Amino acid sequence: MNYVLFTGATGDLGRCCIEEIVKTGDWTVFAGGTNKARLAELEKLPNVIPLELDVTSEESVEAAYQTVRSYTYVLDAVVNFAGIHVFTSMVEGDCVKDIEKMLNVNVMGMVRVNKRFFEMVRIGHGRIVNCSSESGWMTPQPFNGPYPMTKYAVEAYNDSLRRELMYLNIPVIKLQPGSFKTQLTNKIYEDFDKAIASTNYYKKILSTMKPMMTMELGLDHDPRKLAKKLMLALTAKLPRTKYKVCTGKLLLTLELLPDKVVDIAYKAIVR
Ligand SMILES: NC(=O)c1ccc[n+]([C@@H]2O[C@H](COP(=O)([O-])OP(=O)(O)OC[C@H]3O[C@@H](n4cnc5c(N)ncnc54)[C@H](OP(=O)(O)O)[C@@H]3O)[C@@H](O)[C@H]2O)c1
Repeated sequence: MNYVLFTGATGDLGRCCIEEIVKTGDWTVFAGGTNKARLAELEKLPNVIPLELDVTSEESVEAAYQTVRSYTYVLDAVVNFAGIHVFTSMVEGDCVKDIEKMLNVNVMGMVRVNKRFFEMVRIGHGRIVNCSSESGWMTPQPFNGPYPMTKYAVEAYNDSLRRELMYLNIPVIKLQPGSFKTQLTNKIYEDFDKAIASTNYYKKILSTMKPMMTMELGLDHDPRKLAKKLMLALTAKLPRTKYKVCTGKLLLTLELLPDKVVDIAYKAIVR
């Protein structure tokens, strides 16, 4: 039996990935999250051990570590999916607090978890999988800067961890998913409406951009495609350094154009 610690297990993508992992019958999953109701739901799956885990708290990570250690000395994998999205301007509202909060979960959460569980992965000849996003390598869209900031940081963290741990033969792999309908993306609609209501400068611009944002978030990709890519990352003898899945076609097209051209296009939209 293989053992995997999975953060963000209570999320929509996390749950789908865990269903795929346990389907094989080869894995026991320590499923981490803070939502007790969702943890209880996960417990109904075979070979899933729910784990209260707040990745922003050293104490919580330590307590989770002690629980996992009571089952096993080794881990075959750590998978980091814990993440939040706060839609905010870079200059208005509570943006400093919001960005700090996101960095704390999306980036520092990974750092805390990987550091604490590293020794178990080393002894188990395991691997680490970190969930980034297409936002981690594409040029951010207007008003969606802070989340990509955190995912760019995840990319840099992941790549430096990979190049450090390669000397210990521990693969470090990143996932770069496109857009999937989840609790995380649903919250963006609410945040967007709040931003329109509270902004001093961007009411017209945000209102004009809303249909674009809605179109991108409305993409109904099947999360099982992500789960299958994760299984490759977990089981391939020679895993790739990164796995892209369901990359947005429109955003990818914009990425191929020169920055200035895209800037002009974004500006022209709100004339
Ligand atoms: N949905 C997308 O389109 C998309 C695209 C690319 C990448 N991603 C990434 O995929 C991952 C999962 O996202 P999702 O869409 O499945 O979102 P989701 O349904 O909102 O799930 C988010 C997960 O993060 C956990 N989390 C949040 N704060 C936490 C904390 N302080 N400590 C521990 N866990 C915490 C939540 O657990 P609790 O609620 O139990 O605290 C939940 O399990 C994220 O890293 C996200 O950035 C998502």
